[in-house]
Amino acid sequence: MAGRVLRHLVNGVVAAPLRRYSSSGPKKVTLIPGDGIGPEISASVQKIFAAAQVPIEWESVDVTPVRGPDGKFGIPQAAIDSVNRNKVGLKGPLMTPVGKGHRSLNLALRKEFNLYANVRPCRSLEGYRTLYDDVNVITIRENTEGEYSGIEHEIVDGVVQSIKLITEEASRRVAEFAFHYAKENGRKKVTAVHKANIMRMSDGLFLRCCREAAENHPDVKFEEKYLDTVCLTMVQDPNKYDVLVMPNLYGDILSDMCAGLVGGLGLTPSGNIGLNGALFESVHGTAPDIAGQDKANPTALLLSAVMMLRYMELNDYAARIEQACFDTIKEEKYRTGDLGGPAKCSEFTNEICRKIEASH
Ligand code: IPM
Ligand code: MG
Repeated sequence: MAGRVLRHLVNGVVAAPLRRYSSSGPKKVTLIPGDGIGPEISASVQKIFAAAQVPIEWESVDVTPVRGPDGKFGIPQAAIDSVNRNKVGLKGPLMTPVGKGHRSLNLALRKEFNLYANVRPCRSLEGYRTLYDDVNVITIRENTEGEYSGIEHEIVDGVVQSIKLITEEASRRVAEFAFHYAKENGRKKVTAVHKANIMRMSDGLFLRCCREAAENHPDVKFEEKYLDTVCLTMVQDPNKYDVLVMPNLYGDILSDMCAGLVGGLGLTPSGNIGLNGALFESVHGTAPDIAGQDKANPTALLLSAVMMLRYMELNDYAARIEQACFDTIKEEKYRTGDLGGPAKCSEFTNEICRKIEASH
């Protein structure tokens, strides 16, 4: 996120500015390396940050779920304390059990710290060709409720109900966030993505909050589009869109689709932003099949870390690291296997470090 002050409208009141740092001395940042390829791509980011002499200190924490007094598994207290202290963190992928065991820790972290806006920029990488070469869209996803509220129950045998929870408070704050984001980042238009024709009350409320936010920000263009229409037109011409704001599940799906336009989840960053802190993470999975083999592509985590640096207003470091990463991807011999290249994670990492050191 480009620095400066974000002001948030919560419950009709302009809340304290979301500014998180004084910039003296190295800042501590919580690092959650994660599962599978997580530790090796985290080590890669740490190495690159060291080469760039970024003035931060990492505080690594383990988030392996522990059983609490209520018998439920959850995030260890030490990890929670670390994020609460540092207010900013970087997270590798965490394994999510499907349909059983503990709930997704990825979601638990977003909930725990009330990280209500999920920002996913998707930009074409110069030098890495995909079907599209000029994609530049940002999805902003409501990150705390919707179908992700986790309220599900069996009504009678064979009939399950799942609640999509939409609140005015959460819708309004993410809508406001989207307009502030657009302004701070020189964006021209916000598109609200919805299905209020079908989910008339829930998406209807979300849409109403977006319209109200649009009225507060007449200098940013606003439009409303159905989710299916956006999917259709996005793949026909991504240039039609700029900043998109939407409820949780739509954002989950659409952000993957947009990532697909520029080369996949291995290349796209993500930031979960709250009033009290932020957690930046790679969105791809843990890739257990290649874990520990020095084959993983650390780009998504690195670009998430670059986003984190901008959030911390360490813009020069962000720019230098980002440029070195883009320049390295341009050279086929340093690309990792997922991008069709021959390089190991460590070779890709070392080349980025070399470029950074050369630019000092
Ligand atoms: C994402 C992921 C998560 C989600 C999973 C891992 C729980 O797909 O961050 O987009 O569904 O939100
Ligand atoms: Mg997803």
